[in-house]
Amino acid sequence: MTVSQPLQQIDRTYVRYQGRKLSYFAGCDYFRLASHPKVLRAVAQGLKKYGLNVSASRLTTGNHRIYELLEVQLARFFGVESATLTSNGYAPNLLVAQALAGQYSHALMDERAHGSLIDAAQLLDCPVLKFKHRDAGDLARILQRLGGIKPIILTDGMFSHDGSIAPIQDYLRLLPPQGMLLLDDAHGAGILGRNGKGTPEHARVNRKQIIQTVTLSKAFGVYGGAVLGRRALKAAIIARSRLFVGNTPLPLPLAFAAITAIALLRSDGKLRSRLTRNTEKLKARLHAAGFPVENNASPIVPLVPRDHREATLIRRKLLAVAIHPPFIRYPGGPKHGYFRFVISSEHTSGQLESLEKVLLSLSQGGENARTS
Ligand SMILES: Cc1ncc(COP(=O)(O)O)c(C=O)c1O
Repeated sequence: MTVSQPLQQIDRTYVRYQGRKLSYFAGCDYFRLASHPKVLRAVAQGLKKYGLNVSASRLTTGNHRIYELLEVQLARFFGVESATLTSNGYAPNLLVAQALAGQYSHALMDERAHGSLIDAAQLLDCPVLKFKHRDAGDLARILQRLGGIKPIILTDGMFSHDGSIAPIQDYLRLLPPQGMLLLDDAHGAGILGRNGKGTPEHARVNRKQIIQTVTLSKAFGVYGGAVLGRRALKAAIIARSRLFVGNTPLPLPLAFAAITAIALLRSDGKLRSRLTRNTEKLKARLHAAGFPVENNASPIVPLVPRDHREATLIRRKLLAVAIHPPFIRYPGGPKHGYFRFVISSEHTSGQLESLEKVLLSLSQGGENARTS
């Protein structure tokens, strides 16, 4: 595997690629907050006011009132007792696992869980079993076979490879009272649910047995991550997570900008309604026209070519209508790679219509493109 070609952003929905200006349907900056003027201003102000870096763990001399303020705002946004900030979005699952090591008898993990959950499972100090992707029936069979266990279930909320959503309402029904659900909601946070609280809000479930982990680099457009849950969990993280104890928190200008991003998502109802409208418009029309895509609330449309020849054809067709071909190879996704289109709140009707047209021409033109 190699890293992808460097891309040059032109503005919020275009990139320069091979010398041309092309529509960009990739990345997970769903609201384009990474280039929002207020967020960028906050980064500059934060740098001027607070400096770059605390250069110490929060347990020593590296704590700062901006980190605490951000945690308060995150807890308020998601409606949870407490938030614990992490220096990136990969870390929250690891912090949780270090804090809870030895407390569960079995970790039951979706077979397509994100790498950070796979790594976290190794730290839980218990046997790890995989259940079939988004398959509550398989999970029920495993629970029944093992009988009387104290499990922790590990799953993504919204899966980034195809935008599908985990049936957490079914998982919670199966979970014994002493069990827990560790939900990596990197992609659901800010996106799913009436207020963007993520997969739990989308599924309308009680959070009592959920630990939700989120990133600040996708819907919030900045950087960093957080663990959302009970106050007791935060205390356990501070007491037992080596990663929390021994790691410098994220740079202060980013923490300051994340507070602005949260405020924008809370107050600017148009951002969320534009994303919903763009997603609904494109996915409903593709679905109605027979394009193989789930008509759900996630702003991701995957397209899996049958082989290398078909991938080249799709790439050519996209370039012909000035759309950057978002071909990716990523663990958890189809083995030989696929196209993953990500819709944002900032794409114009024109951009969405041209994507719709080309996708429909691909599915009707005999290329047999299909989703994973
Ligand atoms: C499901 C999931 N969890 C965690 C992460 C890590 O987040 P970050 O890239 O912000 O560190 C990602 C990032 O791609 C992700 O898709």
